[in-house]
Amino acid sequence: MTTITTRRFLQTTGLLFAGVLLAACGKKEPAPAPAASAAAPAASVAAAPPPAKVYAVGTDAAYAPFESQNEKGEIVGLTVDVLTAVAAKAGIEVKFVNTPWEGIFNSLAQGDRDMLASSITITDERKQTMDFTNPYFDAYQLIAVKATSKVSKFDDLKKLKVGVQTGTTGDEVVTKQQGKNSTNIKRFESTPLALKELEAGGVDAVVADNGVVINYVTNNPGAKFKTVSDKAFAPEQYGFAVKKGNTELLEKLNKGLADIKADGSYDQIYAKYFGAAPAAAAAPASAASK
Ligand code: ARG
Repeated sequence: MTTITTRRFLQTTGLLFAGVLLAACGKKEPAPAPAASAAAPAASVAAAPPPAKVYAVGTDAAYAPFESQNEKGEIVGLTVDVLTAVAAKAGIEVKFVNTPWEGIFNSLAQGDRDMLASSITITDERKQTMDFTNPYFDAYQLIAVKATSKVSKFDDLKKLKVGVQTGTTGDEVVTKQQGKNSTNIKRFESTPLALKELEAGGVDAVVADNGVVINYVTNNPGAKFKTVSDKAFAPEQYGFAVKKGNTELLEKLNKGLADIKADGSYDQIYAKYFGAAPAAAAAPASAASK
């Protein structure tokens, strides 16, 4: 019994083995055909590569020195330089598209823009509707007033007319202070417009991001402004925004950001606009006491 069984076993396995061989041979023969035909499309792909995706970046380019338009209409600034360097590291192509601040978050949600780079403060509320990269810049709110103003702290603005850019974190802090229904809050579509109104005397103060306020005050000495800082303002951080759930793009951007921070190119860009490396320029009080 044992012998027979063994023989049968051998016969069976032998048959099976032969079958496997046949199958293998059978497979081998037609194999060259698909391989050959696959080579053709591969060659044509090499001849005409599909156009690389160009990511449309929404930015409200009225926010010097972060994002603004130069005489040629090109969008320039720290945000632009940082994202351009990040994109180069990430191996992606970006195109900046001037986008009004008031519709900017919607343009991302609707898919009209692939990402936003517009000095956007990372907030818990915004995180509900979009995803942010790691921070690329530290900021805080700063008050601009006429040089003759008695305002010396944020609290002094309670009963004054205050200009803000609609829907910014500056708008948020002043709305929180004066109440949603305050008629003393004047909202503008851009921060420079709010500052022009301060110059014209239409508002008593403007609350906006420090970098933009300082840039305006420095470049418009004729306006005779001074800035007032207050520790009551929470620290803010700018991030690039992508559509909620776009982790693929988010990871590329975070990787690129880490790369430019590690190799010194971030510091170089920072110094181009602020004259010193981030750590050295971290003392805001001196700039604010202008
Ligand atoms: N950091 C502020 C915010 O996120 C203001 C940003 C405004 N940016 C601009 N490009 N206008 O609310």
